[in-house]
Order: sequence, then C-alpha cells, then structure tokens
Amino acid sequence: MSDTPTTPTSNHSGTWDPGQYLRHAGNRSRPFYDLVARIPPLPGGDTPRVTDLGCGPGNLTASLLDRWPAARITGVDSSAEMLTAAEHLAGPTARSGSLHLTQADIATWTPDAPHDLILSNAALQWVPDHWTLFPAWVAGLRPGGVLALQMPGNFTSPSHTLLFDVANRPHWRRRLAHATGPTDRVLTPEQYLRRLSALGCDVDVWETTYLHVLQGDNPVLDWVRGTALRPVLDALPDPADQQAFLEEYGELLRAAYPPEPFGTVLPFRRVFAVAVRRADT
Ligand SMILES: C[S@@+](CC[C@H](N)C(=O)[O-])C[C@H]1O[C@@H](n2cnc3c(N)ncnc32)[C@H](O)[C@@H]1O
Repeated sequence: MSDTPTTPTSNHSGTWDPGQYLRHAGNRSRPFYDLVARIPPLPGGDTPRVTDLGCGPGNLTASLLDRWPAARITGVDSSAEMLTAAEHLAGPTARSGSLHLTQADIATWTPDAPHDLILSNAALQWVPDHWTLFPAWVAGLRPGGVLALQMPGNFTSPSHTLLFDVANRPHWRRRLAHATGPTDRVLTPEQYLRRLSALGCDVDVWETTYLHVLQGDNPVLDWVRGTALRPVLDALPDPADQQAFLEEYGELLRAAYPPEPFGTVLPFRRVFAVAVRRADT
C-alpha cells in the first residue's frame, strides 16, 4: 500500500448516469447556449456538417437543429449509457437534417469529411492534452468553419479540492488512487487563444463564473454526483463504502456551500473558445 498522496492520472471518464447528470439540466445547459450564441454563420449554409464531441445524453446536441434545422449532425461519445439515453433523439429530421450517434473516444476521433462546425461542451476536461488534437480538428474544417469549445475551469474550487482531500485521507487513499481528476487538464483562456490563433483561426475566447442557485439538501453534493464524483464511486463498489465517503465529503461540502434563504450558491467558472478557420489557411 502506498502512502503517497494520489497523483491522479486517470484518462477516462468512467461510468455515466444520464439521469443523475440531467437532474441539473437547466443550469448545465446555459453555458452551451451561451457558446452557440457566439458561433457566426457557418460556411455550409442551410445544411452544415456538424460534430458534437462528448455529446452526452444528446439533448443539447439535438437543440443545434433549432438553429440549423437541416444540419447533418453527429454526436460522439465514449459512454454507452449516455448514447443509449440519446438514442430517441437520433434519426432524420422533418426538415431534411439528421442526428447520428457514434461511440468513439474523442482522443482518437478525426473529421472524416470537411466540417462546418466541430463543437465540444463540458467534455474536453476528461481528455488529457486535448489541445494536441486541435491541429487535426482545424484541418478538418472548411474555410470559415468553426471550432466551438466550453470547458469547466473550476478545478481549484472547494467542490474539487475537498473531493481530492477526502480521497487522500489515509483510509481512502489506497482504493481511490487515480480516481480524482487532475487540475491541469484545462488550459487558461490565454493559452487557448494563442494555440488556436497559431492554427490560422480568428479566435474569440472568454470566461464566465456562473452563480448557480441550487435547491435541496446539500445540492452541491447532488451536482457533483453527476460528474466529478463518478470515478470515485466507480472505485468503491461496496455501497457501504460509497455511503461512508459521501458522508465525509458531503459534510465538508455543506460547510463550504452553506444554504442561504434563497438557495445554495455554487460559483462555477467556465472557459469558452470559438475559433473560425480563416479562408487563407
Ligand atoms: C459532462 S458530460 C457533457 C455532455 C454534453 N456535452 C452536455 O453538455 O450536456 C461529458 C460527456 O463527455 C463524454 N466523454 C468524456 N470523455 C470522453 C472521451 N474521451 N471520448 C468521448 N466522450 C467522452 C462523457 O461520456 C460524457 O457524456
């Protein structure tokens, strides 16, 4: 048994529970809409080719059809559970568009045809060194095509640091080695700006800290159950261990995010990039 604090190296996102993830769908969807609002008109006109990397349960992917009703959209995800949840949204659309789903790893995905839009919302934080994939993605865009990304930038917030702290307590450390994510998988906004500009794109990068107001008992614990907590719970198959971990972590979360008369505030920083491939590249 090693007593060394966990050095998280996990590079896969584990088992997903679409139902738990969608419990906070309202708050989770807002950054997606804020991202899409900044996407300029696409070169493919009415029938753009679009891929959504890490499409999850597909509800937001399908919403792209509201803006581009005849788009040919592919949702890519590695999670069978998420793709099953998205299945009912797949198929041709009434206005000549289509939504197709593919099970694949973002880390090895490359565009198989010229794209008008490659989008990824709240997924690249699970893909180590994802910026090394940008050259292939930008090369797969038509001139004027867009790479649109949104990633959480909250890895130093209490929801994550407390998870790491509890997982590294002596009685958990051995079983939870590698189960908490690293803090450096998402670059700074400036780094995205420089990397995408160097690839011949006109780039719009920004960050926002949303103040989500959550309801219920210890709602931040409920929120992270749908995302950052999953690899930890995957690593603790015994329900009694899961319960013990949740009690320890939940108590710290309750103190870090106290309830107020109107609800519990979860500040959540997110980083956005919209890169348009220039015609001369
Ligand atoms: C937080 S969810 C976001 C889902 C959706 N984009 C949304 O905004 O609601 C992250 C998704 O990324 C997927 N994912 C994580 N790592 C992946 C990888 N390496 N390849 C493909 N999908 C991945 C997960 O399976 C999950 O569905």
